[in-house]
Amino acid sequence: MQYDLVVIGAGPGGYVAAIRAAQLKMKVALIDKRKELGGTCLNVGCIPSKALLQATEEFHRIQTQAAELGILVKESGMDFDKMMQRKEKVVGALVNGVAGLVKKNGVEVIEGEAELVSSTEVKVGDQIIEAKSIILANGSESIELPMLPFDEERVVSSTGALSLKKLPEKLCVIGAGVIGVELASVYARLGSKVTVIELLDQICTPLDLAAAKQLQKSLEKLDVTFHLKTKLTKGEVKDKVHLTAEGVTEEADVVLVAVGRKPNSRGLDSKVELGKRGDVIVDGAFQTSLPNVYAIGDLIDGPMLAHRASEEAVVLVESLAGHRSKIDYMTIPNVIYTHPEVATVGLSEEEAKASNIDPLIGTFHLRANARARTSLAGDGFVKVVGDKKTGRLLGVHIVAPHASEMIGEAVLGIKKRVTVEEIANLPHAHPTLSESLKEAALNALGRTIHS
Ligand code: NAI
Repeated sequence: MQYDLVVIGAGPGGYVAAIRAAQLKMKVALIDKRKELGGTCLNVGCIPSKALLQATEEFHRIQTQAAELGILVKESGMDFDKMMQRKEKVVGALVNGVAGLVKKNGVEVIEGEAELVSSTEVKVGDQIIEAKSIILANGSESIELPMLPFDEERVVSSTGALSLKKLPEKLCVIGAGVIGVELASVYARLGSKVTVIELLDQICTPLDLAAAKQLQKSLEKLDVTFHLKTKLTKGEVKDKVHLTAEGVTEEADVVLVAVGRKPNSRGLDSKVELGKRGDVIVDGAFQTSLPNVYAIGDLIDGPMLAHRASEEAVVLVESLAGHRSKIDYMTIPNVIYTHPEVATVGLSEEEAKASNIDPLIGTFHLRANARARTSLAGDGFVKVVGDKKTGRLLGVHIVAPHASEMIGEAVLGIKKRVTVEEIANLPHAHPTLSESLKEAALNALGRTIHS
């Protein structure tokens, strides 16, 4: 069978590429070894984790804030199994949604493990599929520590941590990255005693330092213990999982290893050029070293984010169809779905300084924001980073409830190359959390009103 385009991997990179290509009148096949479309993000990543984060956040709010809000709760508790079942239901509905979208657009879905054979051929089982172009969107997988191989019961990756059978009394997390802190939040809110061991001296590197400190403080309020600058030296699974790190010994019922992810490039090394981390090397047009074969998303270098993969998918497919399309990586937001959430776009203060930019900094704390006060959400801030010389907005860092929704304005601002002053002069509805962005910009210019 001959296609215009074959896409390997049906995550947010692959399925979006397939749909956009079909819209552009290409004959498209989408191959995935999982029966369920949506890849890691939908099946065992972003979506199930957000379902658990939402449920546990509501639970925690009831426990800690209901009385202050004047709500009388006679009894509160968490049905662990029901929470997990609801998560499965949400995932199932969204997986069906993607299957529906793909079908509606006339994309042919092939289930099976795909092997790249040549610049125009892909093998699935005994079948050879021919295509004018091939997109590799194989995604990534959790990095395993040799001393603690995953059994997905007691030593778990994020996949296992999202489907535990029962609440661990003691959870130890290795790695205070995005996965580490999100899942630490989930289990700490449910009552597990959570300890995090991190190699570096701050959490969530390369997050803006002030944001990382604020996030660590809010996690510590949940009783999460951090051991920073600590290297794990030994791990043994016995009755419990025993961990030894420099100056620290821990015994945990479950250990979550969240030390990063690596590209799923196994078997590709004989066909396309790979980088040191196993990433597929591409040029500015996502072209690999093999003609007609392209790669996007977690498989190539860059931040491992679903929305980045989807953006790359659209830009690549439109370029293949002869359109002029390009991606601006400065505008890709990054969100950590803790409480408060952390959302950032563009340069941090430290990155601006490292690029020899004299930064224009403005900060506004949520405790001075009326809407935050009405919502009992005083922990957090908005920080803008600009260029003192040109006044241009270079980065925005938000620690606040709904920061994931607030960041959109900053993304548009950076895309449109606005100045900090333009944000400061933009009307914002009152009372809203988003006024904090305006106030942070005003602060950078020495014109703060509300603090
Ligand atoms: P990460 O790269 O964000 O963090 C890993 C952390 O583990 C780092 O802080 C690192 O210093 C630490 N580490 C590495 N080896 C260690 C060791 N031996 N002992 C102690 N600490 C060690 O990786 P993570 O959290 O696993 O996430 C993987 C990818 O998935 C990231 O690229 C992330 O952006 C993406 N992701 C994004 C989410 C979001 O956008 N909300 C949610 C979940 C994942």
